[in-house]
Amino acid sequence: MNILGIETSCDETAAAVVTGGQRVRSSVVSSQIARHQTYGGVVPELAARGHITAIIPVVRAALAEAGLDRSGIDAIAVTEGPGLAGSLLVGVNVAKTLSYAWDRPLVAVNHLESHVYANWLGLPGEAPPHAPRFPVLCLLVSGGHTELLLMMGHGQYRHLGRTLDDAAGEAFDKAARLLGLGYPGGPAIQVAAAGGDPAAFDLPRALPAGSTDFSYSGLKTALLRLAAPWRIEDQRAPLVNPVGGFREHQPPRFRDGLPVADLAASFQEAIIDPLVDRTIRAARESGARTVLLAGGVSANTRLRERLAQAVASGLGSDSEFRVPPFEYCTDNAAMVAGAAWYVLRRGGQAGWETDVHPRLPLA
Ligand code: KG4
Ligand code: ZN
Repeated sequence: MNILGIETSCDETAAAVVTGGQRVRSSVVSSQIARHQTYGGVVPELAARGHITAIIPVVRAALAEAGLDRSGIDAIAVTEGPGLAGSLLVGVNVAKTLSYAWDRPLVAVNHLESHVYANWLGLPGEAPPHAPRFPVLCLLVSGGHTELLLMMGHGQYRHLGRTLDDAAGEAFDKAARLLGLGYPGGPAIQVAAAGGDPAAFDLPRALPAGSTDFSYSGLKTALLRLAAPWRIEDQRAPLVNPVGGFREHQPPRFRDGLPVADLAASFQEAIIDPLVDRTIRAARESGARTVLLAGGVSANTRLRERLAQAVASGLGSDSEFRVPPFEYCTDNAAMVAGAAWYVLRRGGQAGWETDVHPRLPLA
């Protein structure tokens, strides 16, 4: 079964065709990063407008790359949320229209569940990986979410913990902004941290070690304080973009000598330590056979290495560590088309409790 997936939850316009939940036939992602960089973060109104112009060419490209026309598509899948409302609406309406015009079923996919199912995908032209064995302990880390989940089977999730304030990706983005490293922050901090000492600065690990939740908002303030001695107070008037009136972002300025690499490496470690610690403990306590990493922050190489190592040394030799290929970590539509196959197999039921967004009435 070939599913056309569409993803427009944030600032990536994406379409993909996936066969049987695992075989990626095409995956096209049009990023809006350049458009939002001026503002130091995603501007929802601009993101929605960007999706409107990109979506049809992106869907066409995904079909062409898959070597299929509409007759080869069996279902249309789309991210229904959580995400930016104006952005989601573009994808949802295109998917509804295609479903109606092509007379194919429409599958609503939860964005977080699609990140999880990125772990079932194989790269185009490669054999798909073997399916992870249940129970699966899943650490989901993205720009908007940081969650620990126990997956007992397809569509069966138990939430074990989550962030009490900022998400891990959000913390990376704010830290990069604060150090003047640009947007998106995760990759920028990772690059800056490459030559740094992760133990150079003592940054807080907010919650007690026994907790299953996360907290990252205090970390940002701690970083701000550490960088303050080098900061040059800003005398510039804020810039205003005459089109739409959005405020342009002016990166902070620092005197020579700001230890960027050590600050970035210490910050990255303060994000990763609780992630690894709580994941391994929850895996042990729940008897999980697989530990799975998902969401945009799973592209972080230090986190991938640390968690892989912790699974190998801290859990039994029977345990497996899984992480998606880099191209399916950050937002893409292959994961949407892949997850949709499992959603269809269970009769289209939601499976995932969306506590922030009600389900959109798609049918
Ligand atoms: O899943 P995603 O693409 O979008 C959401 O659903 O939020 O995640 C985006 C987040 C951003 O906060 C970005 O900074 C972070 O993932 N990210 C990273 C890396 N690549 C992306 N964080 C740390 N290291 C990376 N290499
Ligand atoms: Zn995402």
